[in-house]
Amino acid sequence: MVRGELESRGADIESRANGSAPIGVFDSGIGGLTVVRELMRQLPNESIIYFGDTARVPYGPKSPETVIRYSREITSFLRDQGVKAVVVACNTATAHALPTLRQEFDLPIIGVIEPGSRAAARATRSGDIGVIGTYGTISSGAYERAIAAELPTANITVRACPLFVPLVEEGWLETDATRLVAHEYLGGLAGAIDTLVLGCTHYPLLKRVIGETVGRSVRLIDSAEETAAETAATLRAQGLEQGDASEPQYRFIASDLPEQFLRVGQRFLGQAIDSVETLTLG
Ligand code: DGL
Repeated sequence: MVRGELESRGADIESRANGSAPIGVFDSGIGGLTVVRELMRQLPNESIIYFGDTARVPYGPKSPETVIRYSREITSFLRDQGVKAVVVACNTATAHALPTLRQEFDLPIIGVIEPGSRAAARATRSGDIGVIGTYGTISSGAYERAIAAELPTANITVRACPLFVPLVEEGWLETDATRLVAHEYLGGLAGAIDTLVLGCTHYPLLKRVIGETVGRSVRLIDSAEETAAETAATLRAQGLEQGDASEPQYRFIASDLPEQFLRVGQRFLGQAIDSVETLTLG
């Protein structure tokens, strides 16, 4: 390693070792704000930089190579902003890119699939677990591997539900059309599972309709809560927690027009967003 590289690596480690640095969070778009909401609740002293790749959403139907490339670009950007850890709030990006990011970046990187799988393994009584997500997440097999690692006897049923994403973006959370689509995708799961992993950032907003469709006794697992808990544990273990109770700073960045981010984002975040910066990557 040449001297310049060593120096920049040293500066990198120094800035990460600083607990007052922000946490970086990214998603293909707005959906990852459900994870930010939970981070704000569980880690109220931590500053956050959120990057939503609204110019290139959706990631769900894209190839693993493309999703890895986008995820690498965003993680590099967040690292250059001095974040102390990165939370990959997007299930599809976690499914395709988490191992690569962990290999290439000298930062703690937390995904959403391991925490969600752990919660599902804990919640099930019968061992019959359903997982729903985008085409990319489901075809990667990442949830099946992660759940089997937690509970080898689990009987896992997976379904891709791609139309849920545009329905949520449109704000159609409880319309007849949404109920019809939910029935088409999930009608067959009623009675077959006792736990369902909502393996996509957008699906927690459809909890009510999904619950009605699969049966109210089915436990719905929203990985945002568990991911925030894992982030807290990681920061604690690495001595990277924000020590004092100073006012946290929140920055929201989108790669395309901020209007949609502002309009729909508040629904995901559960509170108003003051301003959104625009930045194009790639
Ligand atoms: N954020 C994506 C996920 O959680 C859903 C939207 C997309 O397809 O990009 O998988």
